[in-house]
Amino acid sequence: MSYLEATNDLYKQAALTPDVGLCCTTNPVWQLPGLSIPTIMQEMNYGCGSTVSASDLVNDPKVLYVGVGGGMELLQFAYFSRQKGGVTGVDVVDEMLSACKSNFKIAEEENPWFRSEFVNLLKGDALNLPIESESIDVAAQNCLFNIFKLEDLRKAVAEMYRVLKPHGRLVMSDPVCEQPMNQTLRNDDRLRALCLSGSIPIKDYVKVLTDAGFGTIEIRARKSYRILSPNHYPTEELVHIESIEIAAIKDPMPEDGPCVFTGKTAIYYGGEPYLDDKNGHVLLQNQPLAVCDKTAAALAALQEPIHISESTWHYDGGGCC
Ligand SMILES: C[S@@+](CC[C@H](N)C(=O)[O-])C[C@H]1O[C@@H](n2cnc3c(N)ncnc32)[C@H](O)[C@@H]1O
Repeated sequence: MSYLEATNDLYKQAALTPDVGLCCTTNPVWQLPGLSIPTIMQEMNYGCGSTVSASDLVNDPKVLYVGVGGGMELLQFAYFSRQKGGVTGVDVVDEMLSACKSNFKIAEEENPWFRSEFVNLLKGDALNLPIESESIDVAAQNCLFNIFKLEDLRKAVAEMYRVLKPHGRLVMSDPVCEQPMNQTLRNDDRLRALCLSGSIPIKDYVKVLTDAGFGTIEIRARKSYRILSPNHYPTEELVHIESIEIAAIKDPMPEDGPCVFTGKTAIYYGGEPYLDDKNGHVLLQNQPLAVCDKTAAALAALQEPIHISESTWHYDGGGCC
């Protein structure tokens, strides 16, 4: 059985018997006016963060969500779009699609504004999406891509890139791991499917996105996720897994390389009212400017009185590029 088949099996079981401890973290459940998330959806929250952000959802975007789980994030996206077929959910596991569909019926009872027809559920594979090219404004996945081995991850990202309109955005939440993992962990299909042994370092994850052509990357959150300890897992040392929330925007690739925002800020503290780096960046005296890592490095090289903060791993818009 391939690791992809093992993954399908695991999520078939997780659809038939909700498993509260599977994949999820203790993220607070969204409290928004008029939004009630059915308990079964919360029990089937198999994600490790959130991909739903109001600021991505202006101007009635067409939303695609791959790897539907119990449907919680589909409901959250539908909360913002509220139109027939405004959100499309794709999953390769029939049982997960059925569970999601019946969870929507419960969501209809709890939410007078919601209708199941707001979400179009489709059978399909992240590696070969049944979606027209350049038809999507916001594509999302939560805790699926980390399961894929590198070549499949590249395929899945290329598929998301293909279906997005120019300037569309891919929003994701996934575990990452900065430490090397031994081959026993890496080759354990069940641990991989459980989102525990497939994760890669942030810079490798970002490179897969920029290699696919995404010109702007935003790391929006970074949190501790799991510890693999020798008393529970086949490892001799503690392995720390984190999770990130990250957006990749289908902007054209800048000639000097991608803009990767990791939460750095530049503040000019010299004697002039502003500093113009003659490269498109004007820093007003003592005013913070969010900068991508490329601009942060270029500003640092100027040897001017500019304070550049460390990455906060929390970027929420605005800035240099
Ligand atoms: C870890 S769960 C995450 C579910 C959901 N995104 C959430 O946050 O609760 C992974 C989901 O991806 C689905 N899945 C697994 N392999 C897939 C594939 N190759 N293509 C599409 N969906 C897949 C599973 O059925 C499951 O719904």
